[in-house]
Amino acid sequence: MKRVLLVKGDLLLRVIVEKSAELAELRAASIVADLVRRNPQATLGLATGRTPTNVYRELVRMHCDSDLDFSQITTFNLDEYVGLGPKHPQSFRYFMQEHLFDHINIDAAKTFVPDGRALDFESHCRQYEQRIVDAGGIDLQFLGIGVDGHIAFNEPGSSLGSRTRLKTLSSETIGQNAKYFNGEPMPRLALTMGVGTILESQICLLLATGSHKASAIRSMIEGPVTAQITASALQLHREVIVIVDEKAGGWLERRDYYSEVEECTQLLESGQLRALGIGN
Ligand code: PGA
Repeated sequence: MKRVLLVKGDLLLRVIVEKSAELAELRAASIVADLVRRNPQATLGLATGRTPTNVYRELVRMHCDSDLDFSQITTFNLDEYVGLGPKHPQSFRYFMQEHLFDHINIDAAKTFVPDGRALDFESHCRQYEQRIVDAGGIDLQFLGIGVDGHIAFNEPGSSLGSRTRLKTLSSETIGQNAKYFNGEPMPRLALTMGVGTILESQICLLLATGSHKASAIRSMIEGPVTAQITASALQLHREVIVIVDEKAGGWLERRDYYSEVEECTQLLESGQLRALGIGN
């Protein structure tokens, strides 16, 4: 039988444009679930915010309906607001409990979120990095993107080699997130994994939905690599999957090409090689 060598080059930065936010969310959830099934001991990097909420809902559904098993999974969250404890409803620890951890069979001792009330930030951040190393590194890092192009809380101007550290939030980020605080003053500082930390993950999966993300998505994928759009550093990563809905992907100039790549990738993955002129 003829063997075909599949070249994965085009998968390095795979851009998937789905018709709706719901389809984009389901696609992202299925990629996370596939990894959990293939590697039940995987280490996941997790994100918070509006974007991942329905992805977590779908993972909870898969856990309840089809026994998706998280019992040996380890997780590291990207960031946490400084000053907020785990019981504060706007803390990211609270978010993770509410949207995912309380509804699946994950071992609480294996879920890590930076501690927003740590007093010695520096040593806490160093320990967080070390814990990631001790866990064998992150297999899949799930990410959103800010309207200012940030990943995690790596605001414009962050070093592209940065590690977990204290970061001042940008006015755009405060403008976007203040609404969740219902008039209460929003923290101005956060602890966040660095861009360098994120780049060390095996796979990065970035999800963006809604037209307010269109500019950031275009800059990230089609603009130059720059510390002003920290998500653009993902262009240097070995395996990135970006999933967007039509609104968030609406400003992409090479959108048709990304769809062609996606079509060919699916033909390759499903073994329909003749359709691509291989083995005819
Ligand atoms: P959002 O945040 O999902 O709430 O838009 C994304 C981010 O800031 O990374």
